[in-house]
Amino acid sequence: MIKDELKTVIQEKTACVGVIGLGYVGLPLIVEFGLKGFRGIGFEVDTKKVDDVNSGRSYIVDVPDENLKKCVDGGLLTATTDFSQLTECDVIIICVPTPLRKTKDPDMSYIIAAGEEIQKYMRRGQLMILESTTYPGTTDEVLQPMFEENGLKLDEDFLLAFSPERVDPGNPQYLTHNIPKVVGGVSKDSTEIAAMLYGEIVEQVHAVSSARVAEACKLWENTFRAINIGMANEMAKVCNALGIDSWEVVQAAATKPFGFMAFYPGPGIGGHCIPLDPHYLSWKARQHGFDSQFISLAEQVNSGMPAYVVKLVSTALNNEKKAVNGSKILILGVAYKKDIDDMRESPALSIIDLLRARGADVMYHDPFVAEVTFDHAYTIGEAEPLYNNELTDELISDSDCVVICTEHSNVDYNRVCQLAGLIVDTRNALSTDIRNGSKANIVRL
Ligand SMILES: NC(=O)c1ccc[n+]([C@@H]2O[C@H](COP(=O)([O-])OP(=O)(O)OC[C@H]3O[C@@H](n4cnc5c(N)ncnc54)[C@H](O)[C@@H]3O)[C@@H](O)[C@H]2O)c1
Repeated sequence: MIKDELKTVIQEKTACVGVIGLGYVGLPLIVEFGLKGFRGIGFEVDTKKVDDVNSGRSYIVDVPDENLKKCVDGGLLTATTDFSQLTECDVIIICVPTPLRKTKDPDMSYIIAAGEEIQKYMRRGQLMILESTTYPGTTDEVLQPMFEENGLKLDEDFLLAFSPERVDPGNPQYLTHNIPKVVGGVSKDSTEIAAMLYGEIVEQVHAVSSARVAEACKLWENTFRAINIGMANEMAKVCNALGIDSWEVVQAAATKPFGFMAFYPGPGIGGHCIPLDPHYLSWKARQHGFDSQFISLAEQVNSGMPAYVVKLVSTALNNEKKAVNGSKILILGVAYKKDIDDMRESPALSIIDLLRARGADVMYHDPFVAEVTFDHAYTIGEAEPLYNNELTDELISDSDCVVICTEHSNVDYNRVCQLAGLIVDTRNALSTDIRNGSKANIVRL
């Protein structure tokens, strides 16, 4: 039986693991398999990533070069653009992007493209796992029929499962091996073997009854975050209107040891997950006649935050008898979150765009991001790219306003507070001590 064959190669660690898409999710995953003694083949369309992997150069913050090199030098990891090597794999894991179309509908083209490559080269005896975040039903409605088109049958010839990725880039405490993994197969055998496989690389596997439960679980987690961040943003606006420090309020509330979980306000949500994933769920729900109101409301509040930050900047400048038009504004941190280089959906992009559209002279400093481009369809201000500036004393003191959009740890906020005249802190990056010792006018979200 195919189940027993796969069990044997996993137990003996002779299974070859193919990963399609070597990005923030796929690279840490394939390296983890390599570190545990499994041979891996990474399939990528980006030739630079293929070259980097094969040279042992990591481009993902959570994957140290040393670990990557260990796998490559030990003959346990190669990357390729040649999908015919999929035939060599006993397990194929799909980790490609799942963006949204302009209409905010799911863009399934990457999953379909990966599925088509598998379709061309699949053979009897393989386990396929989808890890890309997607709407419930993708694994059994989209992938299963594709894989059965060639005459191969589920359970007899191949197994198929979904397992959501929960990687948190830049979080050194939780890495692939110690984040519990949820696994749901489209058949019982698929669940059992996929759970067994992940048990080789993660400490805790939680098997569920179907791929749809696993798909919905991921969307539930990320929708929970989107809605709670939306609530924190709304509360920050309420506190602001009442003249109360929202950060002090939420920190006080967080001392409650039960029944409260702290979420913090910010300049908006970014990354490839929180701003996008809830739309996958609401899109699917709409097809079944259900309109998810919480998701829409959170989206409305969160996507309005960049404009709210621009309003704070504009009011703060106005109080100093200055206009946004012609002011020098320094953005500190442009990545969507602390201590990483990921710019996807970063709210800093909208803030910069809105400020430039109002005539501001915007510069930025971000130790992780060398260049920011504005070639997306929604740009309303200048489209010229911006480049990272060294955080010199002159840059800070010449700025009419410093806007902290991302609170990277390796920025000297004390120096910023000594040299700047006006600071808008959207992330609570400035501690009470730093604020108390500063002469700058500080506005907090
Ligand atoms: N980044 C995160 O923190 C995170 C966390 C959990 C889940 N996810 C989900 O995981 C999936 C992957 O996200 P990511 O952040 O790794 O994306 P990414 O953009 O960093 O990586 C995806 C990779 O897939 C490659 N690719 C695209 N099409 C391909 C194809 N047809 N064949 C081979 N390679 C292809 C791209 O070149 C890219 O390197 C998404 O569904 C995302 O929602 C991401």
